[in-house]
Amino acid sequence: MTIQTLLESRLRDALGAPAQVSATADARFGDYQTNAAMILAKTRRMNPRQVATEIIEKLQVDDFCQTPEIAGAGFINFRLKPEFVAGQTRALLDDPQLGVPKAENPRKIIVDFSSPNVAKPMHVGHIRSTILGDTLARIARFLGHEVVTDNHIGDWGTQFGKVIYGWKHFRDDVALERDAIQELVRLYKHANSLADADPAIMTTCREELVKLQAGDPENLDIWKRTVALSWREFEAMYGLLGIHFDEHLGESAYNDALAPLVDKLLSCGIAEVSEGAVCVFFRDNPALAEKPCLIRKSDGGFLYATTDLATLQYRIQRWNADAIWYVVGAPQALHFEQVFNVAARMGISGDLRHIPFGSILGEDRKLMKTRSGENVSLRDVLEEAQQRALRLVEEKNPEMPAEEKATIAQIIGIGAVKYAELSQFRMSDYVFSWDKMLSFQGNTAPYLQNAYVRIRSIFRKSGSEFDAPTALALTEPAEEGLCKKLLQFGEIVPSILDDFRPNLLANYLYELANAFHGFYEACPVLKSEGETRTSRLALCELTARVLQQGLELLGIRVPERM
Ligand code: ARG
Repeated sequence: MTIQTLLESRLRDALGAPAQVSATADARFGDYQTNAAMILAKTRRMNPRQVATEIIEKLQVDDFCQTPEIAGAGFINFRLKPEFVAGQTRALLDDPQLGVPKAENPRKIIVDFSSPNVAKPMHVGHIRSTILGDTLARIARFLGHEVVTDNHIGDWGTQFGKVIYGWKHFRDDVALERDAIQELVRLYKHANSLADADPAIMTTCREELVKLQAGDPENLDIWKRTVALSWREFEAMYGLLGIHFDEHLGESAYNDALAPLVDKLLSCGIAEVSEGAVCVFFRDNPALAEKPCLIRKSDGGFLYATTDLATLQYRIQRWNADAIWYVVGAPQALHFEQVFNVAARMGISGDLRHIPFGSILGEDRKLMKTRSGENVSLRDVLEEAQQRALRLVEEKNPEMPAEEKATIAQIIGIGAVKYAELSQFRMSDYVFSWDKMLSFQGNTAPYLQNAYVRIRSIFRKSGSEFDAPTALALTEPAEEGLCKKLLQFGEIVPSILDDFRPNLLANYLYELANAFHGFYEACPVLKSEGETRTSRLALCELTARVLQQGLELLGIRVPERM
């Protein structure tokens, strides 16, 4: 149990009602505080400070807190007893979860993320989804949930008419081998512009699409090859990012389910025919009254929403999922609202969440694009990240073997890109700045990785393996401050999933690294002696473990040297 939940349960005992406790931002107000008295005072129309006094009289916390204090308009502040802090911190050394409690009700969660489109340029939205989705899946797993990651690739759609036309007429096999996605995008764009200029070519592209949909062997073969080539390329990038998908069931996997699904929705009265198309109306929902969900066009074609409904049904059935998380940009909010509303009508009762996010901006604060106005390719971003990191590593360690330099550059470069994303609230648009994200100062991945590396070097210098002491002897305020930060890891991690905010963890790790530096400046470690030395080494060890585990939850690795 975390200190926060311990305090909350004691308050519940005293009040007979639930109350919330949070860590204080400023140590002058103690370590934790609650506004329970203020809330209670409102309903009882009483003086909040008076209510606070009464609560404190009933409250039983003297086994681990000093006498609670009343502050301001009626906050109750708690300060932990130093022996309690030392004991709890010592216990962390034996806990592989580092204080993070497992969920009381583990759930089966499907995380739908990344989901790029074959032969269409991947845009920064896919990059954000990839990094965010992976982190959320990691965190859910660490909390004991059962997670299936599923990459809903856009491998079916009207773009294939043009791709096939381009493939047949303009394909460059060498380019295809070098960078399949780039070549497929080129073919798509080339066919697209030709079709725009010439209605006859537009018709041919449409015919290619119809042939594909009708199962024409040649077109089906071309389609399969484009999907396989793209997936190979996507996988190379996921490999670099250290991201794994349990499934990559693309849109095409649901083709056969679409017609029966629409028929079923029609026959049970959920959907209706309107002007030749099939729609689901939400007449009793004011927000959606004017926005029916289209599931079959008047020409018989199915839509994005139809596929998502079939996918949803499949996921609930196959995995018996309790929840499905869709990590997809904010512009698709309406789409998911419609899909979830249709699902509710179908009697599907999972916890369905669209987890939206904002945009990435270039240094000019406009949507991030390349100089020629194209979407930025993920491959280019990751390559540049590694090259830039390599220059930094070379500056710092000219003598290091080239292979080691490259490994470290990869860890730093990829980590920096991920952290730039994850340290921001997902809804904010953030500026993509190489200099900022690769800086060794400030709230960046290299700063945190460097903190970890410094601790590892303390152990290398200490000349012996870490040996956990039976108890911690804490004397300095900086030691206690660091312990209290360490103990908050178990409170931060579960709170991320309340509103899907990995930035809470990023900011926590940054504060932890700062607390560590404060401790390290105030408290000599290797030069101290006896139980002070072993205790301080234990704090170093725990900080390294929490940094490593916390970064791992963000999908970021740590080097041993840098
Ligand atoms: N491929 C889609 C796009 O690029 C994203 C798919 C998201 N997942 C889903 N189940 N709709 O916009």
